[in-house]
Amino acid sequence: MAIIFDSLSNTITIHTDHSSYQMLIDRYGYLLHLYYGQRSELIMDQSLSYADRGFSGNPYAAGLDRTYSLDFLPQEFPVQGSGDFRSPMLVIRDHSGVYGCDLHYDHHEIREGKYSLEKLPAVYAEAKDDDAQTLAVTLTNERTGIEATLLYGVLPHLDMITRAVTITNRGTNSVTVCRLASACLDFTDGDYDLMTFYGRHTMERIPERRALSHGEFTIGSRRGYSSHQFNPMMILLDRDTSETSGRCWSMQFVYSGGFRAVASLDQYDQTRVQMGLSDEKFSYPLQPGEELTSPEVIMSFSSTGLETLSHNLHKCIRTHLCRGIYRDASRPLLLNSWEACYFDFTGEKIAELAKDARSLGIDMVVLDDGWFGRRNDDFRSLGDWYANEEKLGCTLSELIQKVNDQGVSFGIWLEPEMISEDSDLYRAHPDWALAIPGEKPVRARNQLVLDLSRPEIADAVYASVCHVLDQGNVRYLKWDCNRSICEAFSCHADDQGKVLYDYMTGLYGILERLNNRYPDVLIEGCSGGGGRFDAGMLYYTPQIWCSDNTDATDRLMIQYGTSFGYPASAVGAHVSACPNHLTGRITSLKTRGIVAMSGTYGFELDPSLLSEEEKEDIRMQIADYRRFENLIRTGLYYRLTDPAISSVCAWEFAAEDGSEALICAVRINKIDQDSAVKIRPRGLLSDVVYKESAAGREYEAGRLAEEGLLLSADCDSALYHFTCIT
Ligand code: GLA
Repeated sequence: MAIIFDSLSNTITIHTDHSSYQMLIDRYGYLLHLYYGQRSELIMDQSLSYADRGFSGNPYAAGLDRTYSLDFLPQEFPVQGSGDFRSPMLVIRDHSGVYGCDLHYDHHEIREGKYSLEKLPAVYAEAKDDDAQTLAVTLTNERTGIEATLLYGVLPHLDMITRAVTITNRGTNSVTVCRLASACLDFTDGDYDLMTFYGRHTMERIPERRALSHGEFTIGSRRGYSSHQFNPMMILLDRDTSETSGRCWSMQFVYSGGFRAVASLDQYDQTRVQMGLSDEKFSYPLQPGEELTSPEVIMSFSSTGLETLSHNLHKCIRTHLCRGIYRDASRPLLLNSWEACYFDFTGEKIAELAKDARSLGIDMVVLDDGWFGRRNDDFRSLGDWYANEEKLGCTLSELIQKVNDQGVSFGIWLEPEMISEDSDLYRAHPDWALAIPGEKPVRARNQLVLDLSRPEIADAVYASVCHVLDQGNVRYLKWDCNRSICEAFSCHADDQGKVLYDYMTGLYGILERLNNRYPDVLIEGCSGGGGRFDAGMLYYTPQIWCSDNTDATDRLMIQYGTSFGYPASAVGAHVSACPNHLTGRITSLKTRGIVAMSGTYGFELDPSLLSEEEKEDIRMQIADYRRFENLIRTGLYYRLTDPAISSVCAWEFAAEDGSEALICAVRINKIDQDSAVKIRPRGLLSDVVYKESAAGREYEAGRLAEEGLLLSADCDSALYHFTCIT
């Protein structure tokens, strides 16, 4: 039993293999948080302390007891107006404009299996996860008729606990939800660090760690998508936690829209971390009988450092969030036309790419932007998803066939959420774009955003995507989204505060239908590279283009940061031309290959510009990749160095059973007088002998872990593959 209710202590405990989470239904009906940490069978109420503290309110139910205040007690679901002045998870406004509602425990239920969420992505359990359970705790407020159902899902073997909340209006008047967070963790002490992942277009998910100090530290996105600027993930750590030791707690949002994540240290040196929907342009009215569900937060805990935490998150996302055949199958190795040709191609050129791809051993050609409408630049035609036959010299069906005739499969790029003003779609439906009436819209990359909060527009978008996929044997779809939402105004919404949330459920609805109708089509998410790299999208698209920056050296940091929360199987990464088109940097083909194969691997260059020697090197690289692909996709990931402070970035994929490991090392800035560097592998079996395949040398595992491998001074990158031979 993962979830246990103890009627003597009135506690509910959720156990995973290595952690426990505990709450208390206290004497006044408040749901207090007691514990989240290393597995324990005890009642952990020693974390509660009571004292008469000035300027802290006392709930009426506590009578004259001035030592009882929600202002300092740890809570499961803090709400505004209860006397807790820290960040609330729920802010409610009633029909007469009154804010706040005091919520009390009503009942709870423990169910077998993990809950799912209607219209929203969520971690799932399978039949084999027979220990997965759900806890639903219902809190109520009599005056407004508000009911909050707190959902907790547990996958014990994955050390995962998830949270989401459903607010139901059981009253007789409307209410408005002005804030809704999904998860909150209160700690009655305050000596922690916080890690977040910031960035920008072409430089996403850079880790940043700081000591949490007094006040509220907030990250989030107001952009209508999860954003390049902050990833919806954060990690709280003990001050001395490292990769291999110490406690850490993570929160990851299973949502692709705006979010708000807060970490605070209060007046009594207590810590609160919280994650949920962004408040910006959000106010969701609920009529009597209606409900609103928050997206899910995935939480994990490790007492053995960040490495274990990442292993937990990778496994959860790879095996219990990603779906479809590509969850477990090898991904097609693709050649993408974007950095090969940008907008400048013909159908003949694409067929040529296919021929070259075939000769190199590549599986698929992806036709990126520029194939539709009158799209020869980024000023027009988004929304007109029919082939530019003049440019292609044939129909789309014929082009697909030509590519297939070369022995490679075909994939295509679409940006279905967008509309250009210069498009037939916009001329026919100017009101389909999100824009404020009477004001000129904000343009970004010369485009506007379609109002997916309207079901009829979501249906039309779905139909147009199906129409493209039905043109032939299309095996891959790159789903792009190249701008943020500035105007959350829908001309059909009954309340504008619903638009951003409804946009997202509209988008998820389209993706769900596509997944069902085209189970064999691999969808890769993209948003100007990695602007929507989140667990929400990974439910529908098992891989996401990680960044528009394909420079292998810059990618070291981007992929390092990404690895804290996301598995390599999710990381879209390609070898591109040299010098790099964005940075002008020159990097060896070997290094570019090692970096790209630590993700989904593919190419983003014109093979006809390569020398015969480079082509031969690529063939050999592809052969290596085919050998290691399964290990990279399913192995445990180890960050062996921190590229922010080390001259070498090194990482490792190790089979869970320790039978093999692949160690990758890249010098960050190669200079002539580099020193030799030692790289110490982890995750190997002890007392066995491993053989490294390139040099054929044998190593005792213990010595290898202690002594390390030498990256010689003249070497700018290396791959070492070890197989256990005893
Ligand atoms: C975005 C993507 C790129 C490419 C272009 C096409 O920037 O991230 O990979 O598809 O759009 O316009």
